Amino acid sequence: MKNEYLEIIGGNGLFGKTEVYSAKNAVLPMLAGAMLTSEQVTIKNCPHISDIQNMCRIRDLLSLETHWNGRDIVAGGKLVENHIPESLSGAMRSSVFMLGPILSITGEVKLHTPGGCKIGSRPIDIHLQGLEKLGAKITPLNDGVLCRADKLVGNEIVLRYPSVGATENLIMSAVLAKGNTTIIGTAREPEVVSLCRLLVAMGAKIEGIGTSVVKIKGVEGLSGATITPVADRIVAGTIILATALVGGRVTLIGCNPEHLGAMMTKLVSKHFLAIDDSCGMTVEGDGVVEPMEIASGPYPKFPTDLQPILTAILTYANGRSVVEEKVFENRFSYVSELTKMGGKIAVEKDKAIVDKSELFGAEVTAEDLRGGAGLVVAGLKAVGVTKVKGVEHIDRGYEKIEYLFSSLGAKITRKKF
Ligand code: EPZ
Repeated sequence: MKNEYLEIIGGNGLFGKTEVYSAKNAVLPMLAGAMLTSEQVTIKNCPHISDIQNMCRIRDLLSLETHWNGRDIVAGGKLVENHIPESLSGAMRSSVFMLGPILSITGEVKLHTPGGCKIGSRPIDIHLQGLEKLGAKITPLNDGVLCRADKLVGNEIVLRYPSVGATENLIMSAVLAKGNTTIIGTAREPEVVSLCRLLVAMGAKIEGIGTSVVKIKGVEGLSGATITPVADRIVAGTIILATALVGGRVTLIGCNPEHLGAMMTKLVSKHFLAIDDSCGMTVEGDGVVEPMEIASGPYPKFPTDLQPILTAILTYANGRSVVEEKVFENRFSYVSELTKMGGKIAVEKDKAIVDKSELFGAEVTAEDLRGGAGLVVAGLKAVGVTKVKGVEHIDRGYEKIEYLFSSLGAKITRKKF
């Protein structure tokens, strides 16, 4: 809510267990993919976060059935509408995932081009070029795009960049197309793999899942299915980085250690251990952070979504670190807020140079989801009281972040202005 802020008193270590729910970035495309059948699709163990609630609202406005059963989302209903309301598509990039399914089922879709955001202009050219390859006619409008196709037809598509959303949109567009599609240069993120597993469970014919060449054989129709998506590696990574910063021992239930390989390779040291155990992953640290040089990139490289949180903890590293952002063009906007807390960070183009700093509590404002998470994690260590405004950005991707950390021993509460 816009009239809320998080109050954090730094210094406590993190101890205990926490469950990592289904990944936001798997559930969102799945809520679009469920449109490809009128039968029921159940998506299990979902977090109660605003991005998912908004996606359910878009489905409601398209007269589809979507309801929560505890943490499970049951999606169904026959898609007949094809206009994504501007009120929601503008607010949410994830509406772009609906382009393919709506076009595939109804033959026409108008999308108000989802706005750019704090981290970049967020174009959708790769999505549109791929849809054209499948036979769609794309008409640019002054406030978005109109796509038409009586029947999508399989083709070979080469992606100029392994865009996660475009990969997902185009796979969802190809599963009911006439004939075969090969997509070359696909994203390999675990969330893409998870979406493909749902589509296969619904009857889609997909080969090369998790590789950079995905082949789809178009089928006549898809049926309902039930899936537990991959656990949220970004939420897990946020908790792991926080534990490295403040020290402690935390078990993350459900997290797949392989999905954080690039980060853990850099993070594990004599001060920080990771133990794969049967229920997920246990990490233990003494609160000493080692400096590092790292760059974000497409999976399996270090995930851009954890870049702000990693940069925040590197302010305590014993030496200079360099963090390169190779995915989005403007993902260091949170640094100005970290410097208010005493962070010694210089941003030069796509690099943040981080020197050892002693953070102190301050009043800071989150302007995007993961930048906000970085400010919260910094507050867990900073001396004194940190107040983080802009909590509505953080609530997009973390379910009650104050409870997530207070249940592990942190002093963090949500307050109203
Ligand atoms: C997904 O966004 C995630 N969102 C993002 O997570 C994540 O940061 C990103 O993938 C990268 O991993 C969801 O899955 C809902 P991209 P997406 O298309 O699909 C450029 C979070 O915090 N590009 O892989 O939009 C684009 O501008 C969010 O949970 C084009 O140029 O990411 C960016 O620079 C933030 N043209 C790069 O590619 C296109 O048509 C990567 O974008 C598409 C993308």
